[in-house]
Amino acid sequence: MKKPKPHARVIAVIGGAWGDEGKGKVASYYAKDANLVIRATGGDNAGHTVYFGDKKIPLHLVPGGIGYPQTQCLIGQGVVLNLDTLFDEIDTLKKAGVPDVDKRLKISGTASVLMPYHRHMDRLHELLKDNKIGTTGKGIGPAYSDKINRVGLKVYDLFLPLWELQEKINVATRAHVALFKYLDEEIPEEDFFVDKLAEKLHEYGERLIGMVVNGHEFVRKYLYDDLNTIVIEGAQSVRLSIECGDYPNVTSSDSNTLGTLSGAHLNHKDVTEVVNIYKAYFSRVGNGPFPTEFPSHIKLDGTLGKYLPYESKTGDRLREMAGEYGATTHRPRRVGAFDAVLARQSAELSGADYMCINHMDTLGKFSKDELVVMICTCYRYHGRVIHYYPDDINLTYEIPEPVYTMFDGGWEITPEMKRYEDLPKKARLFIEIIEREVGIPVKYIGVGPKNEDMIVREDV
Ligand code: GDP
Ligand code: IMO
Ligand code: MG
Repeated sequence: MKKPKPHARVIAVIGGAWGDEGKGKVASYYAKDANLVIRATGGDNAGHTVYFGDKKIPLHLVPGGIGYPQTQCLIGQGVVLNLDTLFDEIDTLKKAGVPDVDKRLKISGTASVLMPYHRHMDRLHELLKDNKIGTTGKGIGPAYSDKINRVGLKVYDLFLPLWELQEKINVATRAHVALFKYLDEEIPEEDFFVDKLAEKLHEYGERLIGMVVNGHEFVRKYLYDDLNTIVIEGAQSVRLSIECGDYPNVTSSDSNTLGTLSGAHLNHKDVTEVVNIYKAYFSRVGNGPFPTEFPSHIKLDGTLGKYLPYESKTGDRLREMAGEYGATTHRPRRVGAFDAVLARQSAELSGADYMCINHMDTLGKFSKDELVVMICTCYRYHGRVIHYYPDDINLTYEIPEPVYTMFDGGWEITPEMKRYEDLPKKARLFIEIIEREVGIPVKYIGVGPKNEDMIVREDV
């Protein structure tokens, strides 16, 4: 047997529902004591709201850990990298006074490059579907399709001789151009003009020199030291994962733990803790099943309007009160009750050791009568009571009917509350029922939007 090497603490922060659970906040909370924070999957479809002091910045690609001067950050090999967004974000961070961004941010040479034409392909692919997914429109699916088709570009390609780069882009765009022609759609020349794209990538390459690393070796500099902490800032979530989510209403990467680990240049034995993040209520952007969804006026195209045939304000009120608008697309988010059936399944799928429940302050603003403070503990489905999330839900379009446990609500939680015992008894009961139903402990409780607005239960 090989003698085990000293090994860092490696924490994977994974979304437990349909994204936007507050992963950026929790990863940043950990990051203040970490050596390295890694973004591993997805691209600028992610929007992670992070605070730098009092300044709120939604980040799409750079890990929130960049806010802490001692922390190194890496964009790993599983990411599809929109370089325009990356440089905008770097500039925003510099303007906000974040120190040494260029020195502390590293990019894996084997990360994929999301090209300007991918956004157009995203639009066309949605156009061709009868049942739209409601993607973020950022070109994520087409960028991953190119990767799977082995015509995608990698960050290392930015350093090829110009003619070789042109040739690669030429090959990569052939199928896309053919689709435009087949549909008789006008080709947006500026985003398909091979020579220009290659030149721009070359320019970007020059700006990136010094940031591009061998991801595997870079991570290992931190991994084999038992005094170190590595945080993996998951993007999207278990139920949005291409492998185990609500296919086809999912994103195009495996945003569950295993995909996140390989995207971070790590293996399944390297992770020492997995934390699933949830909100005290649930939300979803885009289409797909949402058994505990509250009625609201969101239309299928994701805009607000008079969509419902009847008057109900529950969903609208929760959305307004919680500010549930997408950090990336600003679309209104669909909102609903905490679903413990789904939460248990996602904890089993991700291998979560414990949970974080965010927005406990927000949920407490609702009284019992408003039918918001409740937990779904099982479903009625095809005339039976079931305790699992049906895996044919996307085929049948039959949404299981949630069975709820109701809570009192009307509690007040403020960021000043630092200990579990400070929480109102009604709120603690809510947390304890979640623990009972999901089967793992709640270690973190979100009491406000800032990175440090969390109660940490050290005994868990
Ligand atoms: P992510 O994509 O998982 O990082 O989450 P987003 O940043 O997209 O969405 C989470 C939203 O909830 C952001 O607006 C956060 O500032 C906010 N938030 C997170 N945790 C809490 C909390 O405990 N209380 C309150 N009031 N807001 C929170
Ligand atoms: P974070 O990391 C919420 C959703 C989109 C759409 C589906 C596919 O902030 O939690 P895509 O553009 O990826 O092809 O869209 O996935 N989606 C997200 N929803 N949070 C996210 O990221 C999301 N990333 C993608 O709304 O339904
Ligand atoms: Mg988000």
